[in-house]
Amino acid sequence: MKITSIKGFADILPGEVEIWQFIEEKAREVFGVYNFSEIRIPIVEKTELFSRSLGETTDIVEKEMYTFTDQDAKESRLTLRPEGTAGVVRAYVESEMYQVEPVRKLFYSGPMFRRERPQKGRQRQFYQIGAEVLGRADALVDAELLLLLSDFFRRIGLEGVTLELNSLGCVQCRPAYREKLLAFLRERADRLCENCRRRMERNPLRVLDCKEPSCIEATRDAPSILDYLCEACREHFNIVQELLRQSDVAYKLNPRMVRGLDYYCRTTFEWTSTQLGAQNAVAAGGRYDGLVADLGGPPTPGVGFAMGMERLVLLLSMRELRQAPRPALFLVWVGDAGRAWAFPTAHRLRLRGVSVEMEGERKSLKSQMRRADKLRARNVIIVGDEELGKGIAVLRDMDSKEQRELRLEGLEDELVRRLEAPA
Ligand code: HAM
Repeated sequence: MKITSIKGFADILPGEVEIWQFIEEKAREVFGVYNFSEIRIPIVEKTELFSRSLGETTDIVEKEMYTFTDQDAKESRLTLRPEGTAGVVRAYVESEMYQVEPVRKLFYSGPMFRRERPQKGRQRQFYQIGAEVLGRADALVDAELLLLLSDFFRRIGLEGVTLELNSLGCVQCRPAYREKLLAFLRERADRLCENCRRRMERNPLRVLDCKEPSCIEATRDAPSILDYLCEACREHFNIVQELLRQSDVAYKLNPRMVRGLDYYCRTTFEWTSTQLGAQNAVAAGGRYDGLVADLGGPPTPGVGFAMGMERLVLLLSMRELRQAPRPALFLVWVGDAGRAWAFPTAHRLRLRGVSVEMEGERKSLKSQMRRADKLRARNVIIVGDEELGKGIAVLRDMDSKEQRELRLEGLEDELVRRLEAPA
């Protein structure tokens, strides 16, 4: 019987993977320019790490985590990471990175897992590229991350994304807003969905994020967090906006954007696209100044974002990036002597960086040429008994169809030079 993949877990096949590689390459490029270092963290962590940092009443922690008990880990339950920030902060604290240099600009990429209902742009195993800056409280770095994203979108040729911006205030000012919002919600509790009614008292801000039409309707005139920011938060937010305007990055204020994770404070943002349907956020993030201390580190501010790879790929897949790599050279051999020459020659050329392909079984010249065509090889070298006897090989440029004879002696040097491969 055929074994199929699990719902929400997808293969990334050749033909599509080239778009992934393109995005990853451009991301590395942009992180280099903005001076970020890569960090690689485990896919499995203790469950407690996520419940503590993302918040007990978030959708992710309440119902979307892949959690299991490992026989060796008697002291704790384990979870497939639903996001990267918690792990990065844990690593920062655990390795005491801050002892050497408290300011760290880190990026990561890899699979994340959430048991959500799969749909276009939403998977249960999905990939993120993310960045976290630890140790900087200034508004400049919030703006820098947003400029980095805008620069990245330009580099990959992504158009039509909108930046939505909000500030969630801080421990000083959010409680007053929370009380105000809670009072507002209590008056309308009968119009809220069951889920919101249940968690409203513990986490009223989450109600603003609910997608149920009744909740959206009931909270249409909810008080805005932006009216409750303290002086310091207001100034921080003003600077972020000022810097964006200076750099001509357009944004829209969205005071209802509370994000699905509890660690946020101050600046939060989402980049959305109208071409994606319901799952419209391409990248999202914000500030989390309390998280490092919550996870046992010294008080250290943090800010970051993550982009959803599947959604970027969907947006770029209309473009001409689907081409599989083209071999620079296809070696066509005829006869035993031809094969004895071709195999080690292919190996030596590959060692020198030339991408070479050849047939393994005895095939006619015509069939080998068809194969070279199919693989879109740029050049073909033909070597049979006759050529070997004369000490030559025939080189054919498959694009221009030009053909010439080359001497076998010094042929590899000549090919490396002609194919402009790194020697
Ligand atoms: P998030 O908003 O949960 O934030 O996810 C960031 C992005 O990951 C989303 O905007 C979306 O593009 C993508 N994404 C999320 N869930 C799925 C899914 N099920 N399928 C496909 N793509 C998905 C975070 O994860 C935070 N850790 C971001 C952050 C970093 N904040 C501060 N630092």
